[in-house]
Amino acid sequence: MSSTQTPAPEPTSTPGGDALREAVHAGLPGAIADLSSLVRIPSVSWDGFDPAQVRASAEAVKALVEGLGIFDTVSIASAPIGDSGVHGQPAVLASRPAREGKPTILLYAHHDVQPPGDDADWDSSPFEPTLVGDRLYGRGAADDKAGVMTHIAALRAFREVHGEDFGLGLAVFIEGEEEFGSRSFARFLVENRDALQADAIVVADSDNWNTTTPALTVALRGNVTFALTVSTLGHASHSGMFGGAVPDAMMATILLLASLWDADGSVAVDGLRSIEMATPEYTEELLRSEAALLDGVAPIGTGEILSRLWAKPSVTVTGINAPSMVNASNTLIPSVTVKISARIAPGQPATEAYDAIVAHLRAHAPFGARLAFTDVDCGNPFLVDTSGPSVADARAAMAEAWGVEPVDTGIGGSIPFVSDLVATFPAAEILVTGVEDPDSRAHSPNESLHLGVFHRAILTEALLLAKLEARA
Ligand code: BES
Ligand code: MN
Ligand code: MN
Repeated sequence: MSSTQTPAPEPTSTPGGDALREAVHAGLPGAIADLSSLVRIPSVSWDGFDPAQVRASAEAVKALVEGLGIFDTVSIASAPIGDSGVHGQPAVLASRPAREGKPTILLYAHHDVQPPGDDADWDSSPFEPTLVGDRLYGRGAADDKAGVMTHIAALRAFREVHGEDFGLGLAVFIEGEEEFGSRSFARFLVENRDALQADAIVVADSDNWNTTTPALTVALRGNVTFALTVSTLGHASHSGMFGGAVPDAMMATILLLASLWDADGSVAVDGLRSIEMATPEYTEELLRSEAALLDGVAPIGTGEILSRLWAKPSVTVTGINAPSMVNASNTLIPSVTVKISARIAPGQPATEAYDAIVAHLRAHAPFGARLAFTDVDCGNPFLVDTSGPSVADARAAMAEAWGVEPVDTGIGGSIPFVSDLVATFPAAEILVTGVEDPDSRAHSPNESLHLGVFHRAILTEALLLAKLEARA
């Protein structure tokens, strides 16, 4: 977007900036190699996937952090999920106290990944890192093993230039279950409070405006996901016997789900809130190309396109358990389960949004169909306070590293642990950065990282560390 791409006024000069630039450049092949090794570990954090792989991924990250040689403690830690006694996935935690009144910065990313889906939908094997042109393909190559390696590579460059004897306090938290809703984070936070305490927190898990323009994420939507089971019959029967006189569960589910949206595709659930947000210009043409909208298919919703993505709710049906086509006999289906994934606008607590969706579904259940709700997960939205000095330093570091001023963006996605963290540390400044771009296709087949973005993200973070170290 040329209208948004503003050249940086003049290259602000971070102390030691040129040396950092050299060190980041020289370290890039090693960072790509280490990233490739991480991508080879299929660390899917969801139930039903091998937890030993998430453990192996945590061990690999721990070795990378230890290899920096600048931390007092590096450990693998996990916490129980609520009061269940079941432990969440392993995270890597490292810390080094500040000296001489310098600030402490916490670097966050996650080493778990989404399931790969069907291998046949990928052009290369999902866990075999594959370089094509400027992009490295593989599950987690962008989301968020690139975030993990951005921290490692920035710290390597920082150490090379500043030596081991610096005053900046450092903490590293590489989570192992972000893609599963950070379900043990509340307890993890209680148990590791001291190690997570910081003046500023870099959350390297978001997007950039495009591959040449950086973004600082200032708004995140929340999420509500759950499984909805719709039942109408005690057992299945021949559709010729009773079809037309009793509702099957598929029919009831289709009618019920259809009530969730207006004719223009806006969410039609009372009690789901939206906010007003000024958004950069973004044309329908750009939406069509970035989202791969097919010719002749219309966008949905109303208002500015980016406000639909950042400031309004959405409801998506992401899965269905019903007989597959090979078993599609002429039968009335007694019960259907769907997975529903909703995005919540900044400002609304996720549990309040969940209650509104449940109330809507109960009020619209056709023919008295029975509804059951299970596997509920709620994550709160977040609005970043951008008034602090570290946000200014982060913006300046982006401009210096990319040669272009950053755009303030919202994201339609969610990073639920952020609001938990801020509830505990209200004074900490939150810097949501990242290494994705609109073509990264996180969660989808052919996920990839743009290596130019990776390079600039590492340099940005190295410059930011140097700016914080230079503070009196
Ligand atoms: N990195 C994403 C968040 C994100 C999404 C950043 C879109 C930029 C653009 C993160 O890993 C993620 O996918 N979060 C999940 C959270 C969910 C599992 C609770 C999401 O948004 O679906
Ligand atoms: Mn992520
Ligand atoms: Mn993700």
